[in-house]
Amino acid sequence: MASAYALPILILTLAIIPFERTCGSHHHRPLPRHKSLHLSLFRHETINKTGYVIVRGVEGGAGRTTAESRTPFGTIFVFEDPLTAKANRSSKQLGTAEGTSITSGLDGLSIISVAKLTLRLKNHKGSISIVGGTNDNMKRSDHPVVGGTRDFLFVQGYVTSSPLHQKGSTVVYKIRLHLYWPPYPPRRRP
Ligand SMILES: *[C@@H]1O[C@H](CO)[C@@H](O)[C@H](O)[C@H]1NC(C)=O
Ligand SMILES: *[C@@H]1O[C@H](CO)[C@@H](O)[C@H](O)[C@H]1NC(C)=O
Repeated sequence: MASAYALPILILTLAIIPFERTCGSHHHRPLPRHKSLHLSLFRHETINKTGYVIVRGVEGGAGRTTAESRTPFGTIFVFEDPLTAKANRSSKQLGTAEGTSITSGLDGLSIISVAKLTLRLKNHKGSISIVGGTNDNMKRSDHPVVGGTRDFLFVQGYVTSSPLHQKGSTVVYKIRLHLYWPPYPPRRRP
């Protein structure tokens, strides 16, 4: 009985394979190779100039401590910081980081951040969107990249941020971007 079914299946398979091959060669160009981009930028944040506390958190909550990097639970901070090529503020500006940080931990240390980095690099222009948690603003943090626009369409990866130095009310952060594009054929812009 089994052989009676095997022959029609074999014929069917042989008929489908060449059809799909021809079909495929007409509609699919070879997939582009995986693309990635790794670079460092410097973010300059000045309290009450490029970043402001918009909502003060719960006073007297668990967040009250002596540690400088702690902010009361529920604090909403909004920023629009320049991103430069070098740690020197006078170096070439390559982008802007706009976003918000909300103190989400009762300890006053953990923060949820949402940011859009608009980048004007030599070969890549567009924005990348970042969402993630920070455990202590004064320590290194890793944030996943959730997507991007224009040259960063479909981008994935992560961004690390570490405070480099502080001068008065300005903190300079070193931002490392590790971006990967999946091997999709490039999509036409709408
Ligand atoms: C920023 O402004 C607020 C409100 O005016 C003030 O309380 C705070 O001390 C200022 N911070 C700095 C670092 O200047
Ligand atoms: C930053 O760059 C400016 C202009 O190029 C220069 O005058 C200044 O000395 C630099 N500062 C540091 C700390 O390198």
